[in-house]
Amino acid sequence: MVALSQHEYQLFQRYIAEKCGIALDDSKAYLVESRLAKLLIDAKCESFSDLYWLLENNSDANIETRVIDAITTNETYWFRDPGSWQVVTNIWLPQQLAAIRARPGEKIRVWSAAASTGQEIYSLIILISEYLKNNQITDLSLDDFDFLATDISSNVLTIARRGHYDPITIMRGLNAELREAYFNHEGGAWVLRDDYRKRVRFEQFNLQNSFLFLGKFDLVFCRNVLIYFTEALRRDIFKKAAQVLKPEAFLIIGAAEIYYPMDDYFEKKITSDGTYFTVKEAAK
Ligand SMILES: C[S@@+](CC[C@H](N)C(=O)[O-])C[C@H]1O[C@@H](n2cnc3c(N)ncnc32)[C@H](O)[C@@H]1O
Repeated sequence: MVALSQHEYQLFQRYIAEKCGIALDDSKAYLVESRLAKLLIDAKCESFSDLYWLLENNSDANIETRVIDAITTNETYWFRDPGSWQVVTNIWLPQQLAAIRARPGEKIRVWSAAASTGQEIYSLIILISEYLKNNQITDLSLDDFDFLATDISSNVLTIARRGHYDPITIMRGLNAELREAYFNHEGGAWVLRDDYRKRVRFEQFNLQNSFLFLGKFDLVFCRNVLIYFTEALRRDIFKKAAQVLKPEAFLIIGAAEIYYPMDDYFEKKITSDGTYFTVKEAAK
């Protein structure tokens, strides 16, 4: 295997920080070396310097996409972090359903901001569908919601849009009853039924960019992605998230991320269900 020198690692460290906002410390050289090894072969490069040269000279746009796909960590599963889902079921959803009845014609807008392969936004759709059914709510439906899911990696978005999951992926966090109710078993894969899959708009989006053109949301999931960023980028993301959340909206972040200071923009709500954030009056 071709080795990554310290100088080459520094080049990629800088490149990845600039393109994705991901801060790789000096202990992550092995990760870059192993994740880019296949691309090095596919691109017929003899060294990591050659690969870097291709990136810098824009000689192949596909190379940049493949570096981002290889470097990002896309770990996700169904109903990850139980507290997030308890907050949605027991607090956010009842509030939103009551509010939407007073604003007929409007939609409840949700954004999964680091969607990976789709399990987060599809878990939400399944949860809402089950909630409506179990509470015998018939005057509202999934049609009253608008679902946006974004990620920087085009590879995960392709998987998310297809809604095909292999037998191991489908089992991670999803019980058999929900699997049977929402998926078809086709050629060894589990395929989310069109009526749920087609409700989500998947788009490539870099969290380093402005959020303003996305519109306003009632719920934003930004989970298990902030951990990879510098403190400055995290702060910038909190500021931008505050600008796109409606007054009663919730921001939900990963269970490991709730200790980051975000006091300038958000009120932290700690409940017996889980933790969520609402925009501070002054930041609206
Ligand atoms: C660990 S996954 C989290 C998935 C899901 N939110 C969850 O909690 O299960 C992190 C995702 O963030 C995406 N990501 C990393 N940097 C990003 C950036 N600058 N902008 C948008 N997405 C990014 C990665 O591609 C990856 O799919």
